[in-house]
Amino acid sequence: MMHVAQRISRLGTETAFEVLVRARALEAQGKNIVHLEIGEPDFDTPPNIIKAAKDALDNGFTHYGPAAGLPDAKQAIADYVNKTRGYDLWKPEEVVFTPGAKPIMFFGMMAVVDEGDEVIYPNPGFPIYESVINYLNAVPVPLPLREDREFSFDVADLEARITPKTRMLILNTPQNPTGGVLTREQLKQIAELCIKHDIIVLSDEIYSQVTYGDFKHTSITEFEGMKERTMILDGFSKTFAMTGWRMGYGLFPEHIAKVVAKLQTNVTSCTSSFSQMAGIEALSDRTLPYVAEFLKEFEHRRNVIVDGLNQIPGFRCHLPHGAFYVFPNIEGTGMTSQEAADFLLYEAGVACLSGTAFGAHGEGFIRFSYANSIDNINEALNRIDTKIRARMK
Ligand SMILES: Cc1ncc(COP(=O)(O)O)c(C=O)c1O
Repeated sequence: MMHVAQRISRLGTETAFEVLVRARALEAQGKNIVHLEIGEPDFDTPPNIIKAAKDALDNGFTHYGPAAGLPDAKQAIADYVNKTRGYDLWKPEEVVFTPGAKPIMFFGMMAVVDEGDEVIYPNPGFPIYESVINYLNAVPVPLPLREDREFSFDVADLEARITPKTRMLILNTPQNPTGGVLTREQLKQIAELCIKHDIIVLSDEIYSQVTYGDFKHTSITEFEGMKERTMILDGFSKTFAMTGWRMGYGLFPEHIAKVVAKLQTNVTSCTSSFSQMAGIEALSDRTLPYVAEFLKEFEHRRNVIVDGLNQIPGFRCHLPHGAFYVFPNIEGTGMTSQEAADFLLYEAGVACLSGTAFGAHGEGFIRFSYANSIDNINEALNRIDTKIRARMK
């Protein structure tokens, strides 16, 4: 059998895709499954974006482009990030366009993290952070998120984890899997710590536009002295319902953007050219009405799923202020997170993720994505309620 390189043993994965496979296998056996496991909007990509991609194909955007992205696309991203964060900081030279936002994690960490460096990251959190940290032979330092703080962390907990070897802090707001949002006040304190201890920030802002009510996204780059020590990860997947297009971007200090472009040259050469042209259209004001519709619908679904979950025995669920996930505490059911996720999949026909898919501090919780129709959410709630009540009798 062909040998697998040793370094691969350090690479983790994203359980959502595995659960999707298991759920599809059950469907192939004739079972009906409500899919609340995958984090992708169920909406169609807005038509103006699709038309821009078709036009770009007709207009010859079918060739290789520069590694970091087409000049007009990089300009559009710099303008968009400046506009949405309320400042005028980023230049096109600091942008790298990638196939999906995910490569920014790998490329960004590859660019600045040395073996033995400590990287602090949210736990529960997006599983790829820990995977890449381990892969690079860096030291993962989990920062627990706390249910009693609406899934943000205590800044004192962060400070306690900083050592002279701390190279990077990963932030994700709004957050996957909890829907938690870091406030401006918290981010200000975090920024002060990063400056004091000379720490680089990887700021995963992929859900920056997905907030509800009075909660608005704050980027840590808004604070004096932070832009030069921060890499922003953002993209098209979540905001514009474009997960399958694979389009994302990162913003870096210019010399790091050059390193990331070099990594991209080694891996993919560049992002698809006609997709980048569609990306320019996505970032235009013409897409705003569609995004507003998505958000209105998400907010409604969030309210329905949170209300429903809080009526199920053994469940306790916070109202999250961002992203499209809920992260109920299920300790009252007497099951572990993995047992609960399996029980819901096999007994209730509802696919969700165990909180532990996002790290050890996810024990006691499960994650539902509410990027699904109200009818399906109500069906899932009914099924869960019936099966849990029967189990707990
Ligand atoms: C926190 C977070 N960051 C990044 C990504 C990756 O986004 P993309 O699909 O654009 O690669 C995801 C997708 O689930 C995510 O939840």
